[in-house]
Amino acid sequence: MSARRPQRVELREVAPRDGLQDEKQILSVDEKVRFIELLAETGVPLIEATSFVHPKRVPQLADAETVFTRVRDLESPDLRLLTLVPNIRGYDRAVDVNVKSIALFTAASEGFNQKNINASIAESLERFKPICERAKDDGVWIRGYVSTAFGCPYEGLVSPDDVARVVEAMEPFGCDEIALGDTIGTATPESTAEVLQKVSQVMDISRLALHMHDVLGRAVANIEVGWEQGVSKFDASTAGLGGCPYAPGAPGNVSMTRVVALFDRLGVETGVDKERVTLAQGYIATVLGKES
Ligand code: HMG
Ligand code: MG
Repeated sequence: MSARRPQRVELREVAPRDGLQDEKQILSVDEKVRFIELLAETGVPLIEATSFVHPKRVPQLADAETVFTRVRDLESPDLRLLTLVPNIRGYDRAVDVNVKSIALFTAASEGFNQKNINASIAESLERFKPICERAKDDGVWIRGYVSTAFGCPYEGLVSPDDVARVVEAMEPFGCDEIALGDTIGTATPESTAEVLQKVSQVMDISRLALHMHDVLGRAVANIEVGWEQGVSKFDASTAGLGGCPYAPGAPGNVSMTRVVALFDRLGVETGVDKERVTLAQGYIATVLGKES
């Protein structure tokens, strides 16, 4: 297990995917590209750029190929562009446009997984297997998401043991990183500590990320607990955009400015430039008409 309280953390920007997938307004390709370009200037080392899910299920990101093709030259040793991939068809679409990093996703609760990807947890893990094999051959970096790690919109509370069981079942696939998703923002500092305690028994916490949706600013407190337990990778979203069309009432992701402010207060390096985040935030707020 890694040392607790890392002195440097890696933030992940998820607004272009998790944020835009849940907006009524569908942005143009130019607007998405400009947003991602502005985010790339913030110094964040990973941006989740788009999603190769079924275009009818998430019409907001139906232009994934075009957007990714326009932004892929932003990738560098300092910036990874991640894309969401639900199945082998999504993987084919992604590698056709030279995607180098993918995020596979399952959940800790059956109810959400069925609504989200039309599969049981076991079926979704079966889907992971051939994708991970090909990704390893292709040198593609893999994130594995476990959604509803703290609560499910259909089943309520989720047991930390169930979360650990899903993480353990994913371990043989060799994900470079596993992200626990607080899909509906129900985590508390206490439940965050409890889930991390269980999960750290089945994987090395240095590969773990927290993806916290935010209610009443609680995500920041949860992230602080994660950091105290040794987690060093945290998702955040410029302008606090985010949600999931298949998790009714899912709130936005924790805002990037709040997460950077937290780590500034703790004296922990993020490498993220707050002024640049503010610029990107101003841009997307204007495009979405959310300036207030
Ligand atoms: P399905 O209907 O079960 O798919 O959808 P299927 O395998 O039965 O195929 C049906 C048809 O869809 C076929 O076409 C496939 O080719 C096509 P046909 O042969 O009938 O002409 N198809 C596709 N087309 C384009 N791209 C694809 C694709 N796959 C199949 N990838 C599926 C299963 C998983 C595709 C669907 O349920 C889906 O796209 N779900 C995505 C839902 C989603 O995007 N949710 C939001 C993201 S997850 C999230 O936000 C949570 C997260 O942020 C973490 C957290 O907060 O906890 C990550
Ligand atoms: Mg999410």
